[in-house]
Amino acid sequence: MNNPLQSSSAPGARTREQFAELDANDALAPERERFSLPPEIIYLDGNSLGAMPRVTAARVQDALERQWGRKLITSWNDAGWVDLPQRLGAKIAGLVGAAGDEVVVADSTSVNLFKVLSAALAQRPERRVILSERGNFPTDLYIAQGVARQLGGKHELRLVERQDLAASLDEDVAVLLATQVDYRTGSRLDMAALTAAAHAAGALTIWDLAHSAGAFRVELNAARADFAVGCGYKYLNGGPGAPAFLFVAKRHQQDFVQPLSGWFGHEQPFLFETGYRPAAGVARALCGSPPILSMVALEAGVDTMLAALGDASMAVLEAKAAALTTCFIELVEPLADQYQLELVTPRAAAARGNQVSYAMGDGERAYALVQALIARGVVGDFRTPNVARFGFAPLYLRFVDVWDAVAHLRAVLARREWDSEQFRSRRAVT
Ligand SMILES: Cc1ncc(COP(=O)(O)O)c(C=O)c1O
Repeated sequence: MNNPLQSSSAPGARTREQFAELDANDALAPERERFSLPPEIIYLDGNSLGAMPRVTAARVQDALERQWGRKLITSWNDAGWVDLPQRLGAKIAGLVGAAGDEVVVADSTSVNLFKVLSAALAQRPERRVILSERGNFPTDLYIAQGVARQLGGKHELRLVERQDLAASLDEDVAVLLATQVDYRTGSRLDMAALTAAAHAAGALTIWDLAHSAGAFRVELNAARADFAVGCGYKYLNGGPGAPAFLFVAKRHQQDFVQPLSGWFGHEQPFLFETGYRPAAGVARALCGSPPILSMVALEAGVDTMLAALGDASMAVLEAKAAALTTCFIELVEPLADQYQLELVTPRAAAARGNQVSYAMGDGERAYALVQALIARGVVGDFRTPNVARFGFAPLYLRFVDVWDAVAHLRAVLARREWDSEQFRSRRAVT
C-alpha cells in the first residue's frame, strides 16, 4: 500500500511544506516536547483524554516511593497532601478566569455537579425549573434528574435546543445548566451573554467547562458566572479518570450548602466533632479524602500547562487551536463535498471549541471511518448517532499533524478502507 504522506498529490491547496512553515513560526511548537507522545500516532483525542506530560511519571513515582513509601502518613502534612485540593484548585483557577480561592479539585465532574446543582437550587427556593439543553452531555442530565428526584420531584428539568436557551429563561427558572462546548458538535456558547440573560431572569448559572478548561480563554468572573464544574483528564492532561474541579463565585460561598457534607468539607476535620460545620469558603465543597496519587498526576498536567504558557495567557493557546481547527476544516473541505461528510462544527473560530466534527449520515460508516483512521495511527473518536470527532490540543499538536491526518483521511475514504468487517464491531468505549 502506498504511503499517502509520500504521495505527490497534496490533500488541499496548501502543501505539507507550508504547514511545516507554520510550525517553524509557532511560538508554542517547542512545548510539544513536554509530552510523551508515541511518534507513530497523530493524536486528535486530547479533548477526551489528554496526552501524558513527561514530568508525570517522575512526580507520581516520587509520591509513591518517597512520600508514601518512606514518609508514610507524615506526608499528609509534610508533603502538603492535606491541602492539595485547594492548592491545585488555585492553579486551575488561573486558567479559567477565577480567583485562587474560588476553585477546588475533588471527585468527578458528575459528583461535583450534584453538589453544585443542589446548592444552587437551595439558593432559589421559590423557583422550580432547571433549564438545560436536550443535547447536553448525558451525565449532566442524569445528575439533574437525580437531584430533582432527591428533592422530592417538585422540580422540572426543562430541556430545550441549545440555541433556545436564552429565550427559554423565565421567572420559573432557578438554574441554567449549560455546557460551554458541545461534546458532539464543538459549538461554543457565549458565557458572558448567556450568564447575563440568566441573571436578568433571576436565575443562577452552572457552566460545565469539560471541553473549555485548558482549551481556550475562559473568564468565569468577567462573565459573572455563579458556579462551574470541569474535567481534569481532557485539556488539563491529568490522566485517565483524573479528579475534576468546581468553582463557586466568592459572592455565593457564604450561602453554599451542599448535600455531601463529608469531613473534608468541615471547618476543622481533625476536631472530629459530632456535628457538621462547613468550612469557610470553597473548601466546603469537598467531601472525603482526596485521591492523592491522581491529584499528583493532575498537578503535573496543570503545571505542564502553566510552564508552557510562561508569561503568556490562554489567548495564545486559543489562537493556535483556532488556527489548527481552521486548517483542518479547510483541508477536509474537498473531501467533505466528495464523500458526504457534513461539518457540524461552527465555521467561525470563536463559535467553536478545539474540536471539529463531521456527521456522516449513517452511524455505521462514521464509526468504521474512525476505526480505520485509528488503524493508521490517527486517533479521533466517534459519538452517537453518527459523528466522527477530532480534537486539537494546541500544546502538543503540530500543523503537519493536521496535514498528515487529512492525508490519511483522504486515503481511507478514497480506498474505502472503512468498509471492512474489522471496523464494524463497536467496542465499549467509542
Ligand atoms: C461535557 C462533559 N461533562 C461531564 C463529563 C464527564 O465527567 P466525569 O466523568 O468527570 O463525571 C464529560 C466527559 O466526557 C463531558 O464531556
